[in-house]
Amino acid sequence: MINVAIDGPAGAGKSTIARSVAKQLGYIYVDTGALYRAVGVYNLRNNVDTKDEKAVAATLADINVELKFIDGEQHVILNGDDVSQEIRQPEASMAASNVSAIPAVRTFLFDLQREIASKNNCLMDGRDIGTVVLPNADVKIFLTADPEERARRRFLELQAKGDPSTYEEVLADLKVRDYQDSHREVAPLKPAEDSILINTTGNELEESIQIICDTIKEKING
Ligand code: DC
Repeated sequence: MINVAIDGPAGAGKSTIARSVAKQLGYIYVDTGALYRAVGVYNLRNNVDTKDEKAVAATLADINVELKFIDGEQHVILNGDDVSQEIRQPEASMAASNVSAIPAVRTFLFDLQREIASKNNCLMDGRDIGTVVLPNADVKIFLTADPEERARRRFLELQAKGDPSTYEEVLADLKVRDYQDSHREVAPLKPAEDSILINTTGNELEESIQIICDTIKEKING
């Protein structure tokens, strides 16, 4: 199986780019952030403090997360419920970042990610795919962009969905998440030593898609 790891901070364009590239290459696109979001949503629904390591760890026994691929689109199933929409709310983003710093949560989601990659040609996006989940991935890409540009993209996405968050709020949230994700003790966000660094600041989306598609093809086909 061919496995491509795409890591990078929130709002770097990973999911939009990876989804499109996966389609062109005929691979499945796996968004691992959705798994952390599902754990976050379960805890929010049950009024558990998502920063309380012990309390969150105790909920894992009651959580079943699955990924289903319908027409190539990933759906996240939490205890039988399709939560693909709910996990995109801003509260779920922060909850996901909080629970993702808890080692028991990472261990809980590890096997599922490995199993999907072992059975499918895939592009997997996240924070620790090239460093921890798939250290032997065929291609590793670290995708980034300036925080202001990432916040602007996220803000426009949320606005399109009718979310009332302001640009300043989105930028502040993004900076908190960047900091948390890069400074946690387990599997912090950082480029794998053998990753290819791509900065998408100032690029048109199509341009970034092309660069990444070409990078992957070149690496795989030699
Ligand atoms: O990619 P995203 O914004 O949906 O991710 C939500 C949170 O989940 C993010 O703040 C960090 C965490 N995450 C992680 O720790 N490891 C991954 N492989 C993917 C996401």
